[in-house]
Amino acid sequence: MDQKMKNSEFHKFFIDELKDLYWAEKALVKELPKMQKAATSKELAKGFEKHTAETEEHIATLEKVFESIGEKASAVKCEAMAGILEEGKSIIEDTKSDTLTRDAGLILAAQKAEHYEIATYGTLRTFAKHMGHTEAEKLLSQTLENEKATDVTLTKLAESFINEGAAEE
Ligand SMILES: [Fe+2]
Ligand SMILES: [Fe+2]
Repeated sequence: MDQKMKNSEFHKFFIDELKDLYWAEKALVKELPKMQKAATSKELAKGFEKHTAETEEHIATLEKVFESIGEKASAVKCEAMAGILEEGKSIIEDTKSDTLTRDAGLILAAQKAEHYEIATYGTLRTFAKHMGHTEAEKLLSQTLENEKATDVTLTKLAESFINEGAAEE
């Protein structure tokens, strides 16, 4: 990367946003096991378990992204994800355990987190593309696809039996 690129405002902005995302993933990986524990159905609990492992992978992938552009991985608090996770906690408090309403609420909270990730990865991989950071673009796109797949899985789960069950409670 040439010096001009490295000093550009756009490049600095890109790095700041990566730090934000790194914080978000690290915060999420701590909350997902709590959501797993709070889930009523084993299907949703399994889903959270799977995405915890995937989120660990996202963190490692972001570390590679930092490395690919010669930056040290560091986290800066992401207020948006902090808020989404805060909301997730209150959804658990506001719903009864062993109900499908709890699961419907957990899916809502999880999808808010996934959509935030999808928006962020989508934008940052496009930034990477325009800056010629081919490796970073590839890595960010890889995680983006996993976030999208997770979102689809959550929708399918909600529509398969959770929303219907919740409606009968
Ligand atoms: Fe993620
Ligand atoms: Fe995710």
